[in-house]
Amino acid sequence: MAKSPAIQPEAGTWLAAWLEACAELDRLQASNPMLDAVIDQVDGRRIRIGDRWLNDFASCNYLGLDLDREVIEGIPAYLDRWGTHPSWSRMLGSPVLYEQIEAQLRELLGVEDVLLLPTLTHIHAAVIPVLSGGGTVLLDARAHKTIHDGAVVARAHGTTLKRFAHDDPEALEQLLRQNPPAPRLICMDGVNSMTGNPPPLAQFAALARAYDAILYVDDGHGFGVVGERGREEPCPYGQRGNGVIRHLGEDYDNIVLTAGFSKAYSSLLAFVTCPSPVKRLLKITASPYLYSGPSPIASLASTLLGLQVNASRGDELRAMLYGKTRRVLDHLDKLGATTLNTSSFPIIEVPLADADDLDSVGALLFERGVYATLAFYPGVPRQEVGFRLQVTAANTGDQVDELLVVLDELADRQIMRPTFR
Ligand SMILES: Cc1ncc(COP(=O)(O)O)c(C=O)c1O
Repeated sequence: MAKSPAIQPEAGTWLAAWLEACAELDRLQASNPMLDAVIDQVDGRRIRIGDRWLNDFASCNYLGLDLDREVIEGIPAYLDRWGTHPSWSRMLGSPVLYEQIEAQLRELLGVEDVLLLPTLTHIHAAVIPVLSGGGTVLLDARAHKTIHDGAVVARAHGTTLKRFAHDDPEALEQLLRQNPPAPRLICMDGVNSMTGNPPPLAQFAALARAYDAILYVDDGHGFGVVGERGREEPCPYGQRGNGVIRHLGEDYDNIVLTAGFSKAYSSLLAFVTCPSPVKRLLKITASPYLYSGPSPIASLASTLLGLQVNASRGDELRAMLYGKTRRVLDHLDKLGATTLNTSSFPIIEVPLADADDLDSVGALLFERGVYATLAFYPGVPRQEVGFRLQVTAANTGDQVDELLVVLDELADRQIMRPTFR
């Protein structure tokens, strides 16, 4: 059915410019079955859209805990005890489950304190303005859109906003040398949601410490997947899944880590690490703490159960995840296809030889039973337009086999950008 635009903003307004930027997404949503889809059924890591079953390589449930029997079977007992939803704002009161999760997180991460809020989007909008209040946000040019939005809220409250080139410590240092107003908050992704790669964290952390700034990292995609390195580690993702800061051997001096449970832990909950006095400050300033509804009990329960699985089987799940991810990466390599992924983490973006083919490639993937995320411009730079594959521990070996056959076909048809390595 043809779509009609819901509103026609006046030319020259912010909304008109924004809709212009979203034109490609609008076009794809109207024409491509991969986007804005109605999922009718799930069976393991397979989904049904209408009468078509697809292998799901677009899920962020990296550890497969959304399908884990220990998690699923453990949730009803929490519902019996707490009901489905605590509707008090957190300002009034919170189930003790929050305290239990925070205590476990402090131990897992090795930080002084953490504050839980429902999502990273809430955290960025509430915490970035407070930590940068009256000073400067220095924003990596490819920071996630929700970080960017938090920085814009900060700017509305008087914070100066400056951008530096993605993953470029020298560009950041140039800005810091100009002595921008303090407090200075440097904001970026941990494991990047599109490239799958971590930033040069040691260099950014050193700059934060040298220039009296705070490095604010969103590790939504790394937490639960990568962790501290150790002799016993069963795979290069490290152990315990305690995030990119520990994985890269940094401590938390001048670093604030934000991450969520909504990806690797399949639960609607997120956290920000902070010293206890900052937590007190956030409890009286952060709107999502004061005025929003909390996470549902099922999500608090699946977080606690997920932490239990992480302690007992997490490293085993991560080793499976690594093995499956490597199969896809090695195959792309063998086919001579480019991917942005240099980390072996389970986010694999595959740019197209011709960005204009995105719609037809999306349709072909759908036809061949591969559900992937379409990476469109300007969500990614034009030379990176393509599709993103995500691997989870719940994808079966057979599903990976089937994916590799489809990649063979794409290579035969010269659809993927070749490597020139
Ligand atoms: C890097 C990153 N940050 C933040 C978010 C938003 O997370 P939330 O759903 O917890 O608001 C996402 C969501 O995909 C993300 O990829």
